[in-house]
Amino acid sequence: MQFLLLLSFLHVSTATALINRKNVVTRFNPTRHASSNTTPMQVGNGNFAFGADITGLQTFLPFATLSSWGWHNASLPTTPGQTSPADFTGLEWWTHGRLVNYDQPNPAEADISQWLIANPHRINLGRIGLHFAGQNGNNNVNVTESDLTDKMQTLDLYSGTITSRFRVNGFAVTVWTWVDPLSDTVAVRIASELLSRGQLGVFFDYPYATGEEKFEAPFVGDWGNVSRHETQLSELKEGSAQIKHVLDNTTYYTAIRWSGEASITPVNGTHRYILQPGSPSQQTLELKATFSPFSNASSPSSVDSVVQNCVHWWRDYWETGAFIDLTATGNATALEIQRRTILSQYLLAVNEAGHGPPQESGLVNNGWYGKFHMEMYLWHSAHWIPWGKFPLLERSIGVYDRFLPSSVRRAHDQGYAGARWGKMSDPTGRSAPGEINSLLIWQQPHVFYFAEMEYAAANQHQQQQQQQKKDILQKWDPILTSSADFMASFAFWNQSTGVYDLGPPMYPASENTNPNCTTNPTFELAYWRFGLDIAMAWKARLGQPVPQRWKHVAEHLAPLPTVAITDTNTNTITTTTYTLYEGIPNMWLDPATVTSHPALSAIYGLLPPTDMVNETIVAATAAQIARAWNFSQCWGWDFPLLAMNAVRLGEVDRAVAYLVHGNFAFDDVGMPVGSEDTAPTPYFPGAGALLLAVAMMAGGWSGSNSSSSGGGDSSVGLGATVPGFPPEWDVKAEGFMVML
Ligand SMILES: *[C@@H]1O[C@H](CO)[C@@H](O)[C@H](O)[C@H]1NC(C)=O
Ligand SMILES: *[C@@H]1O[C@H](CO)[C@@H](O)[C@H](O)[C@H]1NC(C)=O
Ligand SMILES: *[C@@H]1O[C@H](CO)[C@@H](O)[C@H](O)[C@H]1NC(C)=O
Ligand SMILES: *[C@@H]1O[C@H](CO)[C@@H](O)[C@H](O)[C@H]1NC(C)=O
Ligand SMILES: *[C@@H]1O[C@H](CO)[C@@H](O)[C@H](O)[C@H]1NC(C)=O
Ligand SMILES: *[C@@H]1O[C@H](CO)[C@@H](O)[C@H](O)[C@H]1NC(C)=O
Ligand SMILES: *[C@@H]1O[C@H](CO)[C@@H](O)[C@H](O)[C@H]1NC(C)=O
Ligand SMILES: *[C@@H]1O[C@H](CO)[C@@H](O)[C@H](O)[C@H]1NC(C)=O
Ligand SMILES: *[C@@H]1O[C@H](CO)[C@@H](O)[C@H](O)[C@H]1NC(C)=O
Ligand SMILES: *[C@@H]1O[C@H](CO)[C@@H](O)[C@H](O)[C@H]1NC(C)=O
Ligand SMILES: *[C@@H]1O[C@H](CO)[C@@H](O)[C@H](O)[C@H]1NC(C)=O
Ligand SMILES: *[C@@H]1O[C@H](CO)[C@@H](O)[C@H](O)[C@H]1NC(C)=O
Repeated sequence: MQFLLLLSFLHVSTATALINRKNVVTRFNPTRHASSNTTPMQVGNGNFAFGADITGLQTFLPFATLSSWGWHNASLPTTPGQTSPADFTGLEWWTHGRLVNYDQPNPAEADISQWLIANPHRINLGRIGLHFAGQNGNNNVNVTESDLTDKMQTLDLYSGTITSRFRVNGFAVTVWTWVDPLSDTVAVRIASELLSRGQLGVFFDYPYATGEEKFEAPFVGDWGNVSRHETQLSELKEGSAQIKHVLDNTTYYTAIRWSGEASITPVNGTHRYILQPGSPSQQTLELKATFSPFSNASSPSSVDSVVQNCVHWWRDYWETGAFIDLTATGNATALEIQRRTILSQYLLAVNEAGHGPPQESGLVNNGWYGKFHMEMYLWHSAHWIPWGKFPLLERSIGVYDRFLPSSVRRAHDQGYAGARWGKMSDPTGRSAPGEINSLLIWQQPHVFYFAEMEYAAANQHQQQQQQQKKDILQKWDPILTSSADFMASFAFWNQSTGVYDLGPPMYPASENTNPNCTTNPTFELAYWRFGLDIAMAWKARLGQPVPQRWKHVAEHLAPLPTVAITDTNTNTITTTTYTLYEGIPNMWLDPATVTSHPALSAIYGLLPPTDMVNETIVAATAAQIARAWNFSQCWGWDFPLLAMNAVRLGEVDRAVAYLVHGNFAFDDVGMPVGSEDTAPTPYFPGAGALLLAVAMMAGGWSGSNSSSSGGGDSSVGLGATVPGFPPEWDVKAEGFMVML
């Protein structure tokens, strides 16, 4: 059966896919008849994205234009002794009998602590909207969305095109919007008689950035405070202009080019510029705007070339790599999982394939000042590997090389070996001060998951040359070595018990415990073991000696903590489950514990079981979570996490139910819904985790039943097996790897 799986993996690279992917994709093209107050319809290239309201531009609602490169620092505090990042000293906490310095906000250094949390912050690069003018060219006509009629907007997922149609004063307007896959360029085509009448143009506008709000959703930027920043227009040759925007130390450019006769003029006292067509015969206007930190950025030759780039890039995106088709299943749940899957595939390519790891809200709006979280990187981006889209992960994975020196310094300053990866980060690699930020540890073994998945994918791909596998081993070796060195030195040898402990102090993934009392959390222990096992296997593959310390720690980690559940009537033990951490009081009865991320289910689901894991206890824990967990505070990746646990236990119906759980929602355009208590919409770790779970359910995992016992028509697609879906469903899957 392994042979058939290999065939199916190769199958797609020979471009003879059996699923009509275009039919499946376009069936889920979203349609709107009004702007959403919370989410834009979006086009983008993973590194740069543009959020549109119902007009296809940012006419009525200032949805954002975000990138991986646009960042800004507010001025430093002037408080004596707190005027430079070097003045921040953090806090010292007792850690196994010694004082260790952590990057935590220091009340005596409150101003510089907060500056480091909020800076640099990600900036909204600008707003592009329709400008409605009166019959005499009067610029102050007040058109609102409610003045438009016959509004209709669709997003063609297969070509990355938004088409928006409406009428204003009875005149039809059509707007097409694209973002170039190859440059940070928005391209627009507008068709309307209003253009020839001089009553329709396009405006550009620029906000300031303050970094005063941790969350800027749904809109980003400070549209007041006009005098705190500068814009400067220079008209280049005919049909083009450049706008330079300077916010303190940040400067970037918009290179604008348009078709036909038009002129661009500033609106005094604002940062708004209006492009107004001037020819009576002109019924269409084409324009493109390239955003760049460089004044000389190259940009595509025409709107047409952007359209061609989009058509090719998106077709390639959908037609290569893995694909799943559940549409033949006459089951509403299957169709909803398909919708979420397709829209997540689209939105993750638009928002989460840039130079750095994505922030939780991608390029839609800002959370945590636009910074990204190293522990979330796995949920955002690991799915690219089983979906056969490694080049998109490759754009950002270099973050581990870039952050290695600062991570080695962090470990060293705290008295550990190796590299300790940071948490809430900006592109410089600085980890923002924070109690949780400095005490979280589950980001540490992610490098082993990424590396092992890449290696496993290459191993299953028969065309991969030996040399390519060697390259993968070499490439990851320094990162894995430094990561394992830290993990081995962080584990504390407890002489009285003869095992290695993790913590205290530390925060587990659920971030809901007292860090000074948190020791040996189930998930982190199992993840430490998983990481060290791979670290050792990696050395063996390279023919290098395995450091003895790694082996000793891996083999002597504290056992996973358990609790016996007693029937109070008969006073007998009914079942044994894992617990959040060792010695936690009241595991299943404390409302504060049975909430938030149920990360302990990752030890047999996301992760393959290590020697530490007992499957009987895993199953009892999964059943107890289903019974006793308070899901009202769960969101995002929690449900795919639970689905992967259920599926590895063979409970496919439960897995499917988790993927459509009432607290796990995706809006009409596929944005994963957040909440006031948790994080604003969109919360993309939910989308990335969904794709990871679907890949596992479709492609199987090491040790899964490889016969086609699950999934009615699973043999379609050259023997691809779908062990994670209900047997009565009609599932077609092609190109998935067998996961760990
Ligand atoms: C912001 O300031 C920090 C600290 O001086 C520096 O490392 C970083 O490069 C600056 N970023 C920007 C966008 O100016
Ligand atoms: C801006 O740049 C100047 C000159 O390099 C530097 O002195 C100043 O600290 C920078 N400001 C911020 C907020 O980073
Ligand atoms: C944990 O212990 C440190 C001293 O090592 C103390 O400063 C800190 O307040 C304690 N934190 C909590 C949450 O109890
Ligand atoms: C435009 O219309 C809106 C909604 O009717 C109103 O709130 C606003 O004051 C008007 N603005 C101008 C400049 O007339
Ligand atoms: C202008 O800037 C100040 C200081 O940064 C800020 O408090 C205020 O909210 C800003 N005004 C607007 C309209 O955003
Ligand atoms: C806008 O400013 C320019 C130069 O600052 C000036 O020449 C022009 O008259 C102003 N226009 C309006 C409408 O105020
Ligand atoms: C733009 O200018 C910089 C120097 O300012 C240069 O390094 C770079 O190669 C130029 N890029 C292009 C596309 O010409
Ligand atoms: C869809 O399939 C799931 C999983 O097998 C099942 O629980 C559910 O009842 C089905 N729904 C319908 C409407 O058939
Ligand atoms: C060793 O482990 C025991 C049991 O978990 C714990 O009570 C004790 O505090 C640990 N010793 C040290 C020095 O951490
Ligand atoms: C797994 O746990 C169950 C329940 O506690 C226990 O009965 C069984 O012996 C354990 N299996 C192993 C291999 O330790
Ligand atoms: C579940 O959590 C919510 C939010 O924290 C809370 O309001 C509710 O009372 C909890 N339910 C139970 C059964 O504890
Ligand atoms: C594998 O298949 C067997 C027999 O059909 C079944 O009993 C078992 O639950 C399956 N295991 C998983 C993990 O699906």
